[in-house]
Amino acid sequence: MALFIAAALLPGCTARPATPPAPPGDTFRAQLVEQVTADGAWVHIEALQSIADATGGNRASPGPGYDASVDHVAGVLREAGFDTTTPVFTLRSDDRRPITLRNVVAQTRTGDPERVVVAGAHLDSVPDGPGINDNASGVAALLEVATRMGGSPPTTNAVRFAFWAAEERNLDGSAAYVESLSRSERRAIILYLNADMAASPNAGYFVQGGFGDEADETGPEGSEVVGRTLVEELAATGATAETAAFDDESDHDAFIEAGIPTGGVFSGADNAKTDAQAARWGGRAGVDFDPCYHSACDRAEGIDRRVLDDFTDALAGTVARFATATDPLAH
Ligand code: PHE
Ligand code: ZN
Ligand code: ZN
Repeated sequence: MALFIAAALLPGCTARPATPPAPPGDTFRAQLVEQVTADGAWVHIEALQSIADATGGNRASPGPGYDASVDHVAGVLREAGFDTTTPVFTLRSDDRRPITLRNVVAQTRTGDPERVVVAGAHLDSVPDGPGINDNASGVAALLEVATRMGGSPPTTNAVRFAFWAAEERNLDGSAAYVESLSRSERRAIILYLNADMAASPNAGYFVQGGFGDEADETGPEGSEVVGRTLVEELAATGATAETAAFDDESDHDAFIEAGIPTGGVFSGADNAKTDAQAARWGGRAGVDFDPCYHSACDRAEGIDRRVLDDFTDALAGTVARFATATDPLAH
């Protein structure tokens, strides 16, 4: 009894991926990876660039560019047949009126809703620019995966795509969302996959999840399965990933804090590419992965489409493998 209570009280303590999910030969995975394309993702990059151009050059939340981004993404997901909602949360500060913001959350109508694969990307930009690599790229990659998969795929588990508000403030959207979940809703989440920057102009291929020495670097137990799967799926595109520790600087943080196995991909921001990294990935050593990071020049023209293609494929493969995983995933 005591043991049962202790287990029940652990936040997010649930069925965990004990072994890697379906192998790369899996049919559903192979079809989804085949179907997703950089051209498909590019449509959403262009839509979000146009939105920023029409709303003062940014898509910061709160703001009109963010609102239009929400409407675009929610419309695409509804059209693709997902059960789509825009749950609101409230930002409060002492000196200002409370502000209401929307996340976008879209779930498949098939698959076990007690076993949900969640994949997310922040939908807001900084106020200084349109936020195309950071993070229309992650949004576009996941929208391409979602629309090719459709709202009623033949998967064992449910799949939920989430697009977060106010990452650039204080990770507010994802934090409010995880906070809003009941204990059983958190328990139903098998894993969280984060995509924050997936097409940097001088890109790297970084994967988080299970790497590092400390618990706050590796993420909760099970994260190593997610990270390893992302590395394998990038390898299938021909890209050699570099593993990285988690930090508390993107939307993975709320899920990690809730004890949910987590992985993430990241193509690099305002750090210089090393000689070894340029040898591995091409591009320019001594130049930042994204020289336009958090700037007005973070525009569609800077996107590396091959990198976007690779990350879109890797996210498709990873989502597909976990969505079709039938392991007991005992924890
Ligand atoms: N979250 C940071 C941003 O949006 C960048 C980042 C991405 C940091 C991924 C860590 C991991 O600017
Ligand atoms: Zn940013
Ligand atoms: Zn970001």
